[in-house]
Amino acid sequence: MNIDGKLISTKRKDELKMKVDQLKNEGKRIPQLTVILVGDNQASQTYVRNKERACTYVGMLSQVIRLEESTSEGVLIDIIEKLNQDDTVDGILVQLPLPSHIHEDKILDLIDPAKDVDGFHPSNVAKLLLGQDGLVPCTPKGMMVLLDEINYDLTGKEVVVVGRSNIVGKPVSLLCLQRNATVTIAHSRTQDLPQVCKRADVLIAAIGKAKFFNRDYVKEGAVILDVGINRDENNKLCGDVDYEDVKDIVSYITPVPGGVGPMTIAMLMENTLDAYLKREG
Ligand code: GUN
Repeated sequence: MNIDGKLISTKRKDELKMKVDQLKNEGKRIPQLTVILVGDNQASQTYVRNKERACTYVGMLSQVIRLEESTSEGVLIDIIEKLNQDDTVDGILVQLPLPSHIHEDKILDLIDPAKDVDGFHPSNVAKLLLGQDGLVPCTPKGMMVLLDEINYDLTGKEVVVVGRSNIVGKPVSLLCLQRNATVTIAHSRTQDLPQVCKRADVLIAAIGKAKFFNRDYVKEGAVILDVGINRDENNKLCGDVDYEDVKDIVSYITPVPGGVGPMTIAMLMENTLDAYLKREG
C-alpha cells in the first residue's frame, strides 16, 4: 500500500497554518524563514521555490536571498552574521550544494543553532546523537511522521538504511535507534547488499540511484521509505526503488513523487515554527 506523503504533508501544513493564524489573531510577530541560494543549480531553484510556496501556504514570512555563483565566501559569511543578529528572522537555510569555492562546513558552522532549521549545525547534530532536544533534519523527521501515520512501531524491528549522508542516512539512523530499532547503515561499499537489505523490516533507500532496489533486495511485507529523486530512462521522476517490481510484495511504500519529498518541506515549516516559539520563549 502507498503511504501518501502528499496528503499527510498537507494535513501537517494545515495544522501549522492554524497555529500561525492563532499567532496573527493574538497580534504576535509572524515567523520568518530566510533561504539563501547561491548560483543557479536547477534542482536547487525548484526546491527553493517550493519552500517559498510552503511559507505562503502556512502564512509565514519568507525571504529568499539569491546570490551569484561567483559570490565570495566572505560575502556569504557577512550575510549569515547579519541574519543571525536579525530578530525578525527565525529560520536560516543555506540551500546545498554550494559552489565549490565556498567551504560548506564553514558556512553551516556559522548559522546560529537556534535558527538552524535544517538541523545541520554540529551542535544540533550532537544533540540528535545524544538524544537531546534540538532542531532535527527535515527529511528524516518527515520519515518518522510517515511511520507514525501508519502506526508503525519500530521497537525491535530491523531497519536497514542504505546511504550514509549527513542530510539523510546518518540522522535517520539515529532517529530509528531512538525508537528502539536495530539499525544497520549500509552503503555503496557494503558487501552482499541484497542479502543485508532482505533482512529489513523497514528499508530506507537513500543511495541516489534510479530504480536501484528491486525485489531481490526486499523482504516480503517490508515497509519501504524511498528518499531518491531521480530521472529514469524516459526522463520521468523516480525513486531509488523499482516501484513496479516491489509494489506487490511490500506492506507499505512511499511513491516518488508524492512520498518522502513533500514531507521534507512540511517539516521545514514545523522547524521554523519551533525555532520561533523557542526564541520567543
Ligand atoms: N539540498 C538538498 N537537500 C537539502 C536540504 O535538506 N537542505 C538544504 N539546505 N539543502 C539541500
